[in-house]
Amino acid sequence: MSRPLLVDTHLYYYYSHKGYMCCLFLCTIMSSVIHSEEKRIWVLNTRKMSYAIGVAEDSSLLNLYWGSKLDDPRYYVPPEIASFVPFESPIGRSNEEYPAWGGIRYAEPCLKAEFHDGVRDCLLQFESYAEDNAHGGHHLALNLKDPFYRLRVKLHYEIFDEYDLIRRWAEVINDATDPMKLEQSLSAIWYLPRGRDWRLTHLAGRWGGETRIEQEVLAPGKKVIESRRGNTSHQANPFFLVDKGGANQSTGEVWFGCIAWSGSWKIVAEQTPYEQLRVAGGINDFDFSWHMAPGEKFVTPRFLGGYSESGFGSASRELHRFQRDKVLPKGFARQLRPILYNSWEATGFNVDEKGQMKLANIAASLGVELFVVDDGWFKGRENDQAGLGDWVEDPKKFPSGFKPLIDHVNSLGMMFGLWVEPEMVNPNSGLYKMHPDWVYHFPTRPRSEMRNQLILNICEGRAREYVFKSLDRLLTENNIQFIKWDMNRHFSEPGWPQAPRENQREIWVRHVEAVYEIVDRLRSRHPDVLFECCSGGGGRIDLGAMERFDQFWTSDNTDAFDRLFIQEGFSLAYAPKTMVAWVTDSPNWLTNRSIPLEYRFHVAMMGTLGIGGDLTKWNERDMEVAKRLVSIYKRIQPIVQEGDLYRLLSPRQGDVSAVEYVTNDAREAVLFVFTHLQRFRTPPPRIRLAGLTPEWRYSINSTEPGIYGKALMGHGITPKLASSSLDRSMTGDLQSTLYHLVKTQ
Ligand code: GLA
Repeated sequence: MSRPLLVDTHLYYYYSHKGYMCCLFLCTIMSSVIHSEEKRIWVLNTRKMSYAIGVAEDSSLLNLYWGSKLDDPRYYVPPEIASFVPFESPIGRSNEEYPAWGGIRYAEPCLKAEFHDGVRDCLLQFESYAEDNAHGGHHLALNLKDPFYRLRVKLHYEIFDEYDLIRRWAEVINDATDPMKLEQSLSAIWYLPRGRDWRLTHLAGRWGGETRIEQEVLAPGKKVIESRRGNTSHQANPFFLVDKGGANQSTGEVWFGCIAWSGSWKIVAEQTPYEQLRVAGGINDFDFSWHMAPGEKFVTPRFLGGYSESGFGSASRELHRFQRDKVLPKGFARQLRPILYNSWEATGFNVDEKGQMKLANIAASLGVELFVVDDGWFKGRENDQAGLGDWVEDPKKFPSGFKPLIDHVNSLGMMFGLWVEPEMVNPNSGLYKMHPDWVYHFPTRPRSEMRNQLILNICEGRAREYVFKSLDRLLTENNIQFIKWDMNRHFSEPGWPQAPRENQREIWVRHVEAVYEIVDRLRSRHPDVLFECCSGGGGRIDLGAMERFDQFWTSDNTDAFDRLFIQEGFSLAYAPKTMVAWVTDSPNWLTNRSIPLEYRFHVAMMGTLGIGGDLTKWNERDMEVAKRLVSIYKRIQPIVQEGDLYRLLSPRQGDVSAVEYVTNDAREAVLFVFTHLQRFRTPPPRIRLAGLTPEWRYSINSTEPGIYGKALMGHGITPKLASSSLDRSMTGDLQSTLYHLVKTQ
């Protein structure tokens, strides 16, 4: 006798003697969503994670579970609305999957709308569902609708089995014959297992100190991390991770997420009095409103969520792998990022053909692969007070255009790259003089400048087209193979007086979409050009930007010691190959700290290596060290850029920090170790490696015979650093070392 095991949308699986193997096979390949029609439950499964949703009797869609694998609807009780308690909302206590504001609801909603008749109460009920493989991963769509107004919401779930990640977003559709207004439309809300004392880890900072790891225990109430600045921001980053306080780099349960959006965003972690932890996020509703004409729809950015039972390290590795495989622009996703030279710290605005050629000669002799001319090359750009908007070569600096310089750079075997800041205009520019109305502004208010610049209103077609054409011309007329796209201010006076009143607050979203559109168009016309995203350093690092930019400028702070902290936070959420790090001069221009060149190199070698110092001032020894380390980087480049990253010792926790990268096949690894302050005769810590194969032997910096992976991971190694030696040359603060491990047989 056979009996139904699971009910799927397409198939019934049976426990029949004959069919059992076949059933198992079908489950593995098709079971990323298991649906029980009877219980009205969907269980979304990856290798090690499950996420369950169900429909309650009143047609509310509820979240049932997110965590370790519980892959079968049999493990779940039918969804129920919570019981009544005085002064509380039963639905509010019930983990609604996409709460719309209306009825008795007091917690952070995902959706807030106003209908044409002034009604501001929304009611979403489950209507139908569909499954397909349309979006790259297995995809489930759940359709909700308001029973009175013809508002529909489609919730999307893309399930990436091999990464333990789910990508969610919402589509809000106005099916009515009247317009309506959206006041809030978040991408998703995530519910953690009921409980309290959750610890939130997030990335915060400022210009010159981005992506620093912050941790705090969440108390009842809301913790909001956000940007209201029109771009992702240096101050906060759209990433969260929560754990119960016990997780570390290699053990413990962690839940995490990243929003793919490069404009104003928010993440609200709300601990309710009934021990729910709700983490809602998406486009910031602050000053937001979206007019939806009949038939129109609003699609939210995507919010990626993941779970791991093996701590912070495994969460990061999943994210890195996913970004390399599924997020980065296809053209260059699997290619190694070239070693670049950037002129900014060396020549500032003082660039010209001769000076850049001189730098290019030295850069090429070090082994640099891409030579980038930063700010200062275009008409009128003597300093930061003029020129933005006029994207033509300054004839005083480049009398014959870029051709002689590019030819020279190419003849040295390097690619040529250029800095631009396309969204901006200086009032002192030809463009602004012609089109003073092309910037965001309120007619009755001053136009506040930051770094002497205003933001072009690229929501308007003419300004957007101007930006596209200026860049397209540069790329068409010159052999430019790299663009560094910068954005050096945040928004103020976000007025769009030319637009109808009901559309004016859409600029927060439309601006970002316009940036995306311009980059997408440029990329499709110039597929061989690599794009770097910069906003005064790391002000625009997020998964939305990563879908169209190949790498990020991490921070304007190039002090190698400060960088350890910035890079540690960056690596928590983002792949090392997207993290550009330059070796610059000592003492550092921002901190005035002097740091040995080896240390500066070692720090920069932990991502995509760049050099940004004034090479004309480097002495013979500097050149020798640089050549040696560039050639070592070329050997370890695939390990760092494509390998798995392990944060072994955090700079936040002691005088020594260590980061290891291991190839996917575990045949090679590289270990970077840094001391900050030496303490006399304090022995350096033993560092236990990770990710190796226990029974393989590894040589360290070519020393034979190799050491067993088991020993390296169990017992570890003592790094050769200042305080471990009586040799005077080994003393001093800020020492670093690098070990390259290779499987010996
Ligand atoms: C920003 C960038 C720098 C440099 C300058 C040029 O600050 O982060 O790397 O490009 O602009 O003005």
